[in-house]
Amino acid sequence: LPVPSVQAMVAATGGADVSPRYLRPAEAVAGDGEAQIPVIDYQRLLLELELDRCGEESARLHRACLDWGFFQLINHSVPDDVVEGMKASIQQFFQLPMETKKQFAQERGQLEGYGQLFVFSEVQKLDWADILYLHTQPHESRNTKLWPDQPANFRSTLDRYSGAVKDVSDSLLAMMAKNLGLEREVIADKCNRGLQSVRMNYYPPCAQAEKVVGLSPHSDAGLLTLVLQVNHVQGLQIKRNGSWLPVKPVSGAFIVNIGDMFEVFTNGRYRSIEHRAIVDPKEERLSVAAFHLPNIHATIGPLKEMVAHEDDAYKTLDQESFMKLFYGTKLEGKSFLEQ
Ligand code: SIN
Ligand code: FE2
Repeated sequence: LPVPSVQAMVAATGGADVSPRYLRPAEAVAGDGEAQIPVIDYQRLLLELELDRCGEESARLHRACLDWGFFQLINHSVPDDVVEGMKASIQQFFQLPMETKKQFAQERGQLEGYGQLFVFSEVQKLDWADILYLHTQPHESRNTKLWPDQPANFRSTLDRYSGAVKDVSDSLLAMMAKNLGLEREVIADKCNRGLQSVRMNYYPPCAQAEKVVGLSPHSDAGLLTLVLQVNHVQGLQIKRNGSWLPVKPVSGAFIVNIGDMFEVFTNGRYRSIEHRAIVDPKEERLSVAAFHLPNIHATIGPLKEMVAHEDDAYKTLDQESFMKLFYGTKLEGKSFLEQ
């Protein structure tokens, strides 16, 4: 269902008069002084992987996956110019005139392109955000007519960013496999020609920021998500002990989280965690989320190594059926895994 651009709405009205379709009940947020998600050093992990041993950093990664489902990855080896180029490109894209952005608009019923997320019904609450969502890997999944040609270097920037982030994700998955006592190939084979898509989020400021939500509570469908904070405005919150814990981004880090498919692979050892994004009363916020999924032929079910001494807690599906179930369940809370 077509939904107005929030950015255009705010530009036209100043954002003071918020339509009831965006208004949500208040929820408890954890105060300052709460523990923060773990910070993991990628270079140390790489060293331990090379030496083929489970060292201190790998152990910290394992604990982060078991206890949090979220961590911040520092020293991640994606070059600064690639990260900074991505940030600049996406900021410039959302500053383009609406007429230009609309050339890359989602087609009816499609997620890919410029527009909004998951709108199923007239009564559904709407997110205070515009997005640009693109398939990025493998290359032949790219729908290049939806890839902006403005700013001028957008496509080459996204191409470089996509490849570099995919490499980090593949390595992290290898480290996680090792931490779970799996042969490297078990996950690597499923991720050979694995899918990646990138969602660029633009959250305009809102005069009634505490009454709207930028991105509704959800867990991610895939294996692993890497999120880049584009500007200094924070907004990501994760569900922890029954309330929302604001994540304080470490400068230059990726925020990494476990998705539903990884929860299924591990038969629930690693869990995907519900999260949401809130908006700022005065400033816009931007973020870039890169989702990593197995290749289209991989089945999604508990790995046999993970269920040697226990029952399957999840059914096995092909990827298409899994995604149908995921999108068919309203984007509210932890999707269908808990049903
Ligand atoms: C998400 O992708 O779920 C959150 C992205 C953000 O921090 O804006
Ligand atoms: Fe997410």
